[in-house]
Amino acid sequence: GSHMAPLKDVYKNDFLIGNAISAEDLEGTRLELLKMHHDVVTAGNAMKPDALQPTKGNFTFTAADAMIDKVLAEGMKMHGHVLVWHQQSPAWLNTKKDDNNNTVPLGRDEALDNLRTHIQTVMKHFGNKVISWDVVNEAMNDNPSNPADYKASLRQTPWYQAIGSDYVEQAFLAAREVLDENPSWNIKLYYNDYNEDNQNKATAIYNMVKDINDRYAAAHNGKLLIDGVGMQGHYNINTNPDNVKLSLEKFISLGVEVSVSELDVTAGNNYTLPENLAVGQAYLYAQLFKLYKEHADHIARVTFWGMDDNTSWRAENNPLLFDKNLQAKPAYYGVIDPAEQ
Ligand code: G3I
Repeated sequence: GSHMAPLKDVYKNDFLIGNAISAEDLEGTRLELLKMHHDVVTAGNAMKPDALQPTKGNFTFTAADAMIDKVLAEGMKMHGHVLVWHQQSPAWLNTKKDDNNNTVPLGRDEALDNLRTHIQTVMKHFGNKVISWDVVNEAMNDNPSNPADYKASLRQTPWYQAIGSDYVEQAFLAAREVLDENPSWNIKLYYNDYNEDNQNKATAIYNMVKDINDRYAAAHNGKLLIDGVGMQGHYNINTNPDNVKLSLEKFISLGVEVSVSELDVTAGNNYTLPENLAVGQAYLYAQLFKLYKEHADHIARVTFWGMDDNTSWRAENNPLLFDKNLQAKPAYYGVIDPAEQ
């Protein structure tokens, strides 16, 4: 109802509040709820590589343009998601068929050329309409056994296989070139990953960002190459907020900004949320927002991954603040008043 406190007002002195959307979220009641509570949106799918360059050189911007223009016209900001990933990316970017019709990695030079062309064409197309980009998504293995060796901890993605362990750095260098050519744009470049409450994974990510940024800073008067770390935040009711805190503080110690980029907290199953679990979910949301508020000086944005339990990618597990009828759940009250939980 309209008596409810807008999330973005509650946190206006702390960080931007965001949500992930599809085109249907920009119409009618859903648009009203979106605008009431949020400063910024992320395209859930519309700006991924398979949506923007399905075949080589064939850039398909129409749907994404309509989305971003509507978002800006409605007074919200846009975060760009995502330039380099191993999912929702067409095979031609980094693989080819060999003489026996087996899929094999492209050679380094060709893959690097595809990587750079995709990043730079997309960034130049959207220009200053976005406030930030997820340049690379999910490059790190889950729970790597030796996080001190971040290169050995990288996921063996098609990009890795074609280019090598420096593909992450190459992606940020290509993105940075675009920003250097357009000094009036104010856009932050993010590395984005999930399960970042796992300390081994967080340490490997920390080591990667530190290595890439230290070498870049040494050659560029202390400038950052990677501006921010995105903590996706796909949590569950048993997530330990102390682990989230450790990782958040670790990333902040890199001197980068942090955003919580895809927050949701699963609880219950079969599209059912018993009262006790609804309360537990609200309590975890409250603990998380208490933590975020304490570190607000270093957090640019907190984005939920969907508005309601019905349209969530994890709908079966009821992860969001609003139910299938767009009614506020206990989780919503946990977020707006974390001290009361
Ligand atoms: O568009 C087709 C539609 O034409 C078809 O009828 C339908 C039938 O399956 O599928 C539709 O595509 C789906 C697409 O979402 C749009 O709804 C894909 O199958 C489905 O796989 C895809 O899932 C997306 C997922 O990324 C893919 O990995 C989710 O919506 C999206 O929320 C999710 O987002 C990711 C972030 O980008 C990165 N971090 C993890 C996060 C959750 O997986």
